[in-house]
Amino acid sequence: MSVDQLLNLPGLALALGGCAHRFDADLLSECDSTNAVLLARAEAGAPSGAVVIAGTQTAGRGRRGRTWISAPGDSLTFSLLWRFAAGTAPAGLSLAVGVALAEALEKVGAGGTAIQLKWPNDLLLGGRKLGGILVELLPGAPHAAVIGIGLNLHLPDALPDDLQTQSAALNHSGDPNELLARILIELLSVLERFAASGFADLRNAWMARHAFADVPIRLLSDFAPQRIGMCRGVDVDGALLLEEAGQVKRVLSGEVSLRGVP
Ligand code: BTN
Repeated sequence: MSVDQLLNLPGLALALGGCAHRFDADLLSECDSTNAVLLARAEAGAPSGAVVIAGTQTAGRGRRGRTWISAPGDSLTFSLLWRFAAGTAPAGLSLAVGVALAEALEKVGAGGTAIQLKWPNDLLLGGRKLGGILVELLPGAPHAAVIGIGLNLHLPDALPDDLQTQSAALNHSGDPNELLARILIELLSVLERFAASGFADLRNAWMARHAFADVPIRLLSDFAPQRIGMCRGVDVDGALLLEEAGQVKRVLSGEVSLRGVP
């Protein structure tokens, strides 16, 4: 049976145990994008902890205007609304979410210890993309964030050949309700730490899983020439540290993508 057939709200509530009251989950068999659905619900007043899970997305969104492709049953696709105290700066939030995901997968033994993080929002397994994070802030309320997560459980046949070779899947055979519950529980803990101390408190955990520590990288942008330098990790705000000609510069995530240098 595929993931979307196995996921169900009573099973999720059971797996969440004592944390179940912190979430208000909705499971849709199909929607355009769980981020889009939850952003609309957030604007209409949905509470912090609202979760939208989709069996299939017809217009899954990725960073930099890309599409997130997933076939029914092959991915875990969901979004979580989190309302921080007014004035909380969201800098580094998608990196903090990456830490929560890595910790959750490590705890359920999925992917072993090989889960790595790629700035700003990718989860890698064996150097290939296992999952992505898309944080979207509520217009006019930047302290309310919709955190969208797509995790490959199996690789969809529909994936174009080039993406097929760059992608990884968990091939997790356990109960997806338990997997999702573990992720939500880790998110709860990480988001509470983030609310208290920002990304600074999570930076070491991110750096411990950094896939490009002290190696040459390229930064690609639609609006500026490519930059090449040594990757020196991230700072306490989640900005990438790129060493160019002996000088370390901060790069904000914006419209930039990172690539290794072969
Ligand atoms: C990326 O790698 O560019 C981010 C991908 C994020 C995909 C997830 S799937 C659930 C949520 N809903 C969306 O439309 N996108 C995110």
